[in-house]
Amino acid sequence: MADLSCNLAGIKSPNPFWVASGPPANTAYQAHRAFEAGWGGVVWKTIGVPIVNVASRYSALNSGTERMIGLNNIELISDRSPETNFREIAEVKKRWPHHAVIASLMVESREQWHEFVKRAADAGADGIELNYGCPHGMCERGMGSAVGQQPAVAERITSWVMEVATIPVIVKLTPNITDVTAVARAAKRAGANAISLINTINSITNVNLDTFVPEPTVAGLSSHGGYCGPAVKPIALNMVQACAADPEVGLPISGIGGITTWRDAAEFIALGSTSLQVCTAIMHYGFRIAEDLNDGLSAYLDSKGMKSLDELRGLAVNKLNKWENLDLKFQRVARIDYDKCIGCNLCYIACEDGAHQCIDLKSPDELGLGLGPGRVPHKPVPVVREDDCVGCNLCSLVCPVDNCITMTVTSGDHEPMSWSNYQAKVARGEMQPMPPHP
Ligand SMILES: Cc1cc2nc3c(=O)[nH]c(=O)nc-3n(C[C@H](O)[C@H](O)[C@H](O)COP(=O)(O)O)c2cc1C
Ligand code: SF4
Ligand code: SF4
Repeated sequence: MADLSCNLAGIKSPNPFWVASGPPANTAYQAHRAFEAGWGGVVWKTIGVPIVNVASRYSALNSGTERMIGLNNIELISDRSPETNFREIAEVKKRWPHHAVIASLMVESREQWHEFVKRAADAGADGIELNYGCPHGMCERGMGSAVGQQPAVAERITSWVMEVATIPVIVKLTPNITDVTAVARAAKRAGANAISLINTINSITNVNLDTFVPEPTVAGLSSHGGYCGPAVKPIALNMVQACAADPEVGLPISGIGGITTWRDAAEFIALGSTSLQVCTAIMHYGFRIAEDLNDGLSAYLDSKGMKSLDELRGLAVNKLNKWENLDLKFQRVARIDYDKCIGCNLCYIACEDGAHQCIDLKSPDELGLGLGPGRVPHKPVPVVREDDCVGCNLCSLVCPVDNCITMTVTSGDHEPMSWSNYQAKVARGEMQPMPPHP
């Protein structure tokens, strides 16, 4: 069985799954329950000077019957006192010496940072995470994303922390920025030991069309909130890859954002993550999902003959390239398996109205087709005109039947030609420029 143990910049845990800083990591009681359920680490709900919270705090984006594909919150950092939080961290660490307990911190002045960093180490925390990401409330007071959006400020504050840190320091990055690597580089310059990303994304999930107040509401008003959950995973993966691929960053990564299944976890690791943090999926389904995450990831590694997470880490990072290096001569077309097709014609409409008008509807009798699963007798079925198909994938994405539309490679053996190859050849006079409208 593959070894799932994890070491992020010296912070060790029996597996890579950490509870992210947030409501599920608020108390010792929850940390005990998380570890009992199989989590490898807990990043404590951000500790700072005591603050208050509002009611209500959350709103969600649903999709059809799927609840909470995205979660929005206007919650601030811990509203429990630093004394209580540090005392409970010490208590949890004593009972779980081999699990990772990380103190997430957010304060203002250099003196406060020094004090809180020392208190975290004294409590026995294995590491510190600097919360530069909160996109609401705290940024209005010059903290959270107000720090994470300015590389120079993030660098200065991280260097204050490094002046006194005796345990590894992780800088948690905000996605509310054009280029996340700018702050990751600043963290590196300041001497941080690792980065974690992403924190939540600025959002409005919905507007009540009677009162015109967006959710969540607080006495008739609302506020911009932070968005997370499955809907943010693609944004998180993109930012994790950007940091992993940047040689000027070169820091271990704790990947966060929409992780719900072992597959999500494996993707984050393949894009360069060492540990993984989860918040929304725990808020939705509870700590018990740790079992599926651990079992699924372990079985996947076994199926690939990989003995540890190190063998998976980063395998996808260099599979992303600049568009200009992609092969323009590579060609795929959509092919329909009529034994699976249920005749819903979603692919036809998608291609007709949203793509390249190269699916025709033909009589199944004309095509000599019998009745497929769920197909209505004599109802026209879709037929792809392969010569006109540009291989965009849209029909296969909308088709509700797995593996019914297969994108099939038709370009065969050929000499690849990318946009950059083409430009170089034209510049050397080896090729005529293409006509502007072929
Ligand atoms: C209600 C709520 C409260 C959160 N509080 C914190 C916090 O105190 N500190 C922090 O660094 N991140 C906080 N986060 C952000 C999470 O740690 C995490 O970065 C984000 O939710 C993305 O992960 P997910 O998609 O698994 O939820 C909070 C998230 C939620 C939903
Ligand atoms: S791949 Fe795109 S162009 Fe080809 S049939 Fe499907 S939708 Fe149409
Ligand atoms: S979307 Fe899929 S199932 Fe529906 S008609 Fe097209 S190929 Fe058949």
